[in-house]
Amino acid sequence: MKSLVSITDFSKDEILKTLDLAAEFENDTNQNILENKVVASIFFEPSTRTRLSFETAINRLGGKIIGFSDSANTSVSKGETLKDTISMIANYADLIIMRHHIEGAARYASEISKVPVINAGDGANQHPSQTLLDMYSIKKTQGKLENLTIAMIGDLKYGRTVHSLLMAMSHFNTKFKFIAPAELQMPVEYKNHLDRLGLKYSEHTELTENIGDADIIYMTRVQRERFSDLLEYEKVKNIYILTNEMLENTKQNVKVLHPLPRVGEIDINVDDNPKAYYFTQSLNGVYTRMAIIACVLGLK
Ligand code: CP
Repeated sequence: MKSLVSITDFSKDEILKTLDLAAEFENDTNQNILENKVVASIFFEPSTRTRLSFETAINRLGGKIIGFSDSANTSVSKGETLKDTISMIANYADLIIMRHHIEGAARYASEISKVPVINAGDGANQHPSQTLLDMYSIKKTQGKLENLTIAMIGDLKYGRTVHSLLMAMSHFNTKFKFIAPAELQMPVEYKNHLDRLGLKYSEHTELTENIGDADIIYMTRVQRERFSDLLEYEKVKNIYILTNEMLENTKQNVKVLHPLPRVGEIDINVDDNPKAYYFTQSLNGVYTRMAIIACVLGLK
């Protein structure tokens, strides 16, 4: 049994095995491997997909769920510390799935907890279960993970999904194109990581002319909640809006991914374009999260 806090907690081999297991669960979604297990789903920050797909996965695996989707209804509102909260919940459950707004909160929880912790997103840091479902979606649509070109677009500074995805895809000789306004560029530590591995990347501010050679167009939302200065947010919030017209000169099999929610960065007319894959991507989250739960509990 082990926690999944950062995508780097899983080796390349473990990532591939998890993706294979996700395919197995997609073929057979009702396997009672969580019978007699209790899973705590604790969300200190809002979520639709991550929480509900994890909870769907637990239900499909025959487990029981405790938890909360709003910490205002817990003793955190009376001043209880994260340390005490996690120690208590680890006494009740066999696994903790946690989202928290503070970077590093999931790592801290994993050090306190006597049961495994899955990080369901910690601030602008990491979102490893999203990464695994993104990789499952990439493998399913492209038939491989090796030697692909991924264009990452939008909020590359605060976007935990792009940070995790970059780390994981760097096992697979990926070429990255970072498309972001000057204020939201990919942080230097991630570029240093690619430099150390000798992987290629380029940085751009213009969208249309830089997606023609991409196999995956990974759109992200400019996240209002990460800005301390809302004037700065207003300046960049609508900087990129992907339209069908922009997709005309892209590769035949390119797929548009987005961790969702979107607020305007993909025109709704793109939803019917065969290149749009984001809704199926979020469905893939159920199979992938079934696989992650099975892996961290050592049940497969
Ligand atoms: N992709 C994602 O994390 O979505 P939610 O915030 O709705 O969980």
